[in-house]
Amino acid sequence: IRHLLSGGDLDAGTATEILDTAAEMATVAGREVKKLPALRGRTVVNLFYEDSTRTRISFEAAAKRLSADVINFSAKGSSVTKGESLKDTALTLQAMGADAVVVRHPASGAPHRLANWLDGSVVNAGDGTHEHPTQALLDAYTMRARLGRLAGLHVAIVGDVLHSRVARSNVLLLSTLGAKVTLVGPPTLIPVDWAARAGVGSAATDADPGTDVCYDLDAVLPGVDVVMMLRVQRERMNDSYFPSAREYARRYGLDGPRLRRLPEHAIVMHPGPMNRGMEITPEVADSPRSTIVEQVANGVSVRMAVLYLLLGGNNR
Ligand code: CP
Repeated sequence: IRHLLSGGDLDAGTATEILDTAAEMATVAGREVKKLPALRGRTVVNLFYEDSTRTRISFEAAAKRLSADVINFSAKGSSVTKGESLKDTALTLQAMGADAVVVRHPASGAPHRLANWLDGSVVNAGDGTHEHPTQALLDAYTMRARLGRLAGLHVAIVGDVLHSRVARSNVLLLSTLGAKVTLVGPPTLIPVDWAARAGVGSAATDADPGTDVCYDLDAVLPGVDVVMMLRVQRERMNDSYFPSAREYARRYGLDGPRLRRLPEHAIVMHPGPMNRGMEITPEVADSPRSTIVEQVANGVSVRMAVLYLLLGGNNR
């Protein structure tokens, strides 16, 4: 592959190759010499138009562990504030030698536009409410590491699905890898077309057996292997979408009693950042069933694998 723009770009073979490569990359972190020379002489640009802690820092760590040169660009403090366009900004960075551009942007589709303009590889690090494919890859990696497989797993993705690029990329990737996904949340926060595809609601048409929708969290919990809680993205919604923080937490928050209704082997995930006390209580977030910190650590290995396969693998 030349670009990674969507969880749907990956067939099962390519996705598994990325996860297997990430497992090899993870062994680097345990070594005395933590760097590989694989991308020496290559330049990776982190082009961030939206705030990020995990994704930006882990792409930087991943590129550095592969010995690439890294340029970090943040729209704040750049000529973007003077009105420079995305295209002109990208072409400027390309002129400075970017081999790969990792882009986060508030506009859905921005990475696809960049891929048309640039000669190098483009990696989508989150575009609006659309997709976040490396988050889905690190989530799949974490599930496989904890539970030993992906095919046949039942994954509940819970909460503000409507605004979640993480949910969209996970649905696409997990379906490709043979997992069953149930989307859970208030009807106002589940996309109508997904509910319709799953055969839920009045608009039901072509039911998709791989992705289900349920509005009742308590009904779903006893039958899942993974529960993935999503951040409530208040900054992307107006109040008509949202009940109230207390009502939301009561119906869709994962707390201690709900944690104890999960099967014993089931894990709890969250992509971060979390609203502690809203979609997840501190007791659950900090429990041994939670993989939240592991997800962050695995993100570095997965992003190393993505950069390695885009820039250093057989396609170049
Ligand atoms: N999960 C995630 O994308 O986190 P950041 O916004 O901190 O990068």
